[in-house]
Order: sequence, then C-alpha cells, then structure tokens
Amino acid sequence: MKILGTGSVVPKKLVTNDMLSEFLDTSDEWITTRTGIGTRHVISDEHLEDMAAEAALKAIEMSGKKPGDFDLFICSNVVNEYVTPSLACVISEKIGLSCPCFDVNAACPGFMFTLDIAESYYKAGRVKTVLIVCADEPTRMCDWADRSTCVLFGDGAAAVVLGEGDNILATRLHSQPSVDKLWERRVLEPTPYITKTEVNTPLQMKGRDVFKFAVTASTTEVEALLESIGKTKDDVSYYIVHQANMRIIDAIKNYLGEPESKFPTNIADHGNSSSASCTILLDSCVRNGLFKEGDLIVFSAFGAGLLSGAAAIVW
Ligand code: UT7
Repeated sequence: MKILGTGSVVPKKLVTNDMLSEFLDTSDEWITTRTGIGTRHVISDEHLEDMAAEAALKAIEMSGKKPGDFDLFICSNVVNEYVTPSLACVISEKIGLSCPCFDVNAACPGFMFTLDIAESYYKAGRVKTVLIVCADEPTRMCDWADRSTCVLFGDGAAAVVLGEGDNILATRLHSQPSVDKLWERRVLEPTPYITKTEVNTPLQMKGRDVFKFAVTASTTEVEALLESIGKTKDDVSYYIVHQANMRIIDAIKNYLGEPESKFPTNIADHGNSSSASCTILLDSCVRNGLFKEGDLIVFSAFGAGLLSGAAAIVW
C-alpha cells in the first residue's frame, strides 16, 4: 500500500515539568536529563474519540478520498472511555464511515501492527483503501502520585490513509511476553457469583527492564527488517522511532551507528503518547515537507506485552 494522507490532533492542555514538580517529588532537571521530555499535551475536557475523529478527517482530506471509498478501518488503542463498541465504531459514526472496523490493542507499537494487518488484507486482494487511527490517552492509566510513570506520558491521536501502491516494503512484528514489565488492571462490574479479589491497579512499569527491551528489540528488528528487503542502513533516509525516552532513541541511534539527522523527534514537546507517538511524529514530518519522493523511512516501536514492531516504507 501507499500512504496518501496523515493527520493528528493533541489536547490543548500543556503540562510542563515545573507544573509536575508542584505536586510530585521531581524536577525539570531530572525529567529532562533522564527522558528528554520538557512538556506534554494532557487530556482535560476533550474526549479521545473526538480528537481521533478530527485527526482522521485531516488525513482523509489530505488523501483526497471520501468516506465511501474506505474498505477497512483499523484503530490502535489501549484504553478509552468506551468498553464497547470499539473505538473504531465510535469514530466511524462521527466521520460517516460504514466499512468494517475494529480496534487493535498492541500498545505502543500499535501503528506497525495496524500497518501489517492493512498490508496483509491488501495483498490478499480484499481492500484498496484503508484508514488507520492511532489514538491513546496513557495519562488516564497512570497514578498521578507515582513520579516514575506519570511524568513520561502525553495524549493524542493521529491517522493515516493507505491506498493502492507498493510503498510498504516490509513489516516485522515481535512478541516477548512478559506482563509484569508494564501493565494496568481494572475492576470489572460485580456479579452475585464473583468470589475472587480484584484490585484497581494503575499503570505499573519496570522502567529499566523496558528500557533494555526497547533498545535490543528495536535494533534487532530494524537490522532484520533491512536485511529482509535487501537494504542497508545507508539506504535509510529517516527512522521514526517510538518517542518513549530520548535516551532510548539515542541508544538505538548509537547502536545502529546512524547520524542524529536521520532521527526526527517530538518527545521534548509530547512525551510518550503510546501508539499515537510514531503517527503524530509522522504527520508533522509529512506536513513539514521533510520526506522526499523515494526516501526510505524505517519505523520502530516497542511497549507493553512486551511487543515490538518495525516497518519500512518508501515515500
Ligand atoms: O511506551 C512504553 C515504553 N516505556 C518505556 O520505554 C520506558 C522505558 N524506561 C525508561 O524510560 C526509564 O527507565 C525511566 C525514565 C522510566 C526511568 O529512568 P531510569 O534512569 O531508568 O531511572 P530509575 O528507574 O533507575 O530511577 C533512578 C532514580 C530512583 O531513585 P533511587 O532509587 O536511585 O533513589 C527513582 O526513584 O530516580 C528516581 N525517580 C525520579 N526522580 C525524580 C524516578 N522517577 C523520578 C522522577 N523524578 N520523575
């Protein structure tokens, strides 16, 4: 397939590191040095589905497609206010889509998972035009008294319209199940028969373990991805890497031996918005005219599961 349009929307509320240090035992110095994050957009009065619908309409407008043109809509999301129907259904109603749609929960690498599904449907001859939306509100998963998690995240939504083409050269998905590294649990509705104990537990993360997984999985998958398509690092124009921590991005860059100029980032202004991260960054690169025709762009993301994904796209 080929990317025909992109769009993104972030919440209006900007939260600085100094604002966090008003109620947390943290500092701008710690957050900036350890993560590279300066500010993040945090949901206040917005609903995620409204932001996602707006991002989708922006991408559709850029693509020149109409709602009736779409054969499939896949939404990457971890949590939102609706348990059912899927966030994809809620967005579809808002933007007038009537094609089959569903959600994928693959955490931060959700964009690569949705891309892989779309490309597979396309190669099977079942679709020609697909909408992908990556919408996440990780700030609603954190305990805002836990300085080790809440300072890391921001919210947002971004969309990609895919049409006919042969620009997606390859996708790679990887799973290394290890639930206790990054998880959240919530209590479900009670019934007269429930005898087990259930506890609401906000997002828990073993930061150092996830850090190590991120660097290893990303570098391994990127090298394998390039090898699978007969390309080398010299052929790569840009890497769009999950915006979780600037130190992780730097470690990936150093391991691959690639220059900083190949790694556009937005982590300083956005923090980690889960699967929306890569797609928000993609949209700003597209709208700023960074990519030229023929550029080879490599995507890489990692997160809860533990899961990771990579993709290579020719612009
Ligand atoms: O999208 C999901 C993927 N998630 C990630 O990729 C996150 C991966 N992990 C990381 O980015 C890093 O591990 C963190 C940013 C989460 C933590 O950085 P770190 O350098 O690994 O720090 P640490 O967890 O080893 O903590 C070092 C110290 C601890 O204090 P002590 O035990 O040395 O006294 C923490 O309590 O820093 C303390 N600390 C803080 N201090 C000030 C933890 N959070 C904060 C904070 N402000 N916000």
